[in-house]
Amino acid sequence: MAVCLANKAKGRGLEGIGSNLISNRKSQYANKMKYTYYGQSSFLLETDNIKLLFDPFISQNPLAKNIDITKIEADYILISHGHGDHVGDLVALAKQTKATVIAMPEVCDWLAKQDVENVHPMNYGKFTFDFGVVRMVWATHSAGLPDGSYGGNPAGFVLELDSKQIYFAGDTGLTVEMKLLSELYKLDYAILPIGGNYTMDVDDAVIAANYVNCDKVIGVHYDTFPVIEIDSKVAIESFKRAQKQLLLPKVGETITL
Ligand code: NI
Ligand code: MN
Repeated sequence: MAVCLANKAKGRGLEGIGSNLISNRKSQYANKMKYTYYGQSSFLLETDNIKLLFDPFISQNPLAKNIDITKIEADYILISHGHGDHVGDLVALAKQTKATVIAMPEVCDWLAKQDVENVHPMNYGKFTFDFGVVRMVWATHSAGLPDGSYGGNPAGFVLELDSKQIYFAGDTGLTVEMKLLSELYKLDYAILPIGGNYTMDVDDAVIAANYVNCDKVIGVHYDTFPVIEIDSKVAIESFKRAQKQLLLPKVGETITL
């Protein structure tokens, strides 16, 4: 059966029947998706049809000094929470790109006060956009906006688009809430914070990858400040020992998912 062959090709031949039922919902003709890292927790997910930008904090990040934000295009900007290292370039890029911003209602209200009207508030729900399905999920963290405005609660996202299921955890500590995702999804990639101190560290992220049952992890939220500096080699080894792959694209690098 074609679906089983597709699963085997992806190294999933030994999964249980439940997982195969989930996989059956996906197209066997998986398209290529591009991931471009902009430093900290900012990245662009790109398919043939759509550009999704996440947590833009670029112009104030010395590690991202080679990124020219005036060249960034986006159809949607997804915001995990209101902290400065996630919304630093949000207003400028929302205006530049005319993208629709998907964020907590409080973040959307804050944007409206700055003449960004093209918003889609979400609050831990699920919605089908023109590019695919987005679920806003729990993150254990805080979420105040840079000017002291109340930012609502912090969040992560699970995206279903182009036959792939991708989890972006936002800023979060390790939480058992993540186990729910292994019941709802068969994730292809988990984009997890790994820098520690403000979020999970590498060891926590390995546990989180187990909780969400995902073998391919892309690390974010590390090295930007001294307290979140990591040893990349040690981090990659830690995931390897757990039979998982940690991808750490360089700032400005594009990888294919
Ligand atoms: Ni934060
Ligand atoms: Mn942060």
